[in-house]
Amino acid sequence: MTIDLKSFIRDIPNFPKPGIIYRDIAPLLLDPQAFKAATEAMAAPFDGETVDVVAAAEARGFIFAAPLALHLNAGFVPIRKPGKLPFETHSHSYDLEYGSDELHVHIDGVLPGQRVIIVDDLLATGGTMQACCKLLELCQAEILGCSFLIHLAGLKGETKLQPYRVESAIVY
Ligand code: PRP
Repeated sequence: MTIDLKSFIRDIPNFPKPGIIYRDIAPLLLDPQAFKAATEAMAAPFDGETVDVVAAAEARGFIFAAPLALHLNAGFVPIRKPGKLPFETHSHSYDLEYGSDELHVHIDGVLPGQRVIIVDDLLATGGTMQACCKLLELCQAEILGCSFLIHLAGLKGETKLQPYRVESAIVY
């Protein structure tokens, strides 16, 4: 039986600001069959490929990256906000609507030439995933592509991720 993943996403109008519809993944995470189906849908484009590492940025990226890593028989590498990783890191700063943010990865998290997919729950502006790609480029990883649960296509975030492959299980 095919599960309609979109039916497990709850729309919350005017959150976090007026005019924005928040796509809430909480109902999907609460349903084990939907959660499993979501993970499988995110992995499917890469099934049959050799994947060494699944990487993801905190916090919501971790939720999907860990089961995906197990499904693809790959390791998991966390990409974290400043001050969280204990060992030496590569870092990358990026601009937000107001201010800037920074992400880090351990310098030995991904080794040169390792084949990586990067996972997140949501592709909106693409800024977060672009920063993750830059970090993995610093590691000299081979980036196979990016896999999202949800792609907000109207925001054209995929343009920031060229030339990488962008896959998503749900598109709005
Ligand atoms: C959300 C989401 C993605 C990012 C997508 O994370 O989980 O990582 O925003 O937006 P973008 O494409 O415009 O960069 P958020 O920064 O809210 O952090 P969280 O995962 O800790 O909730």
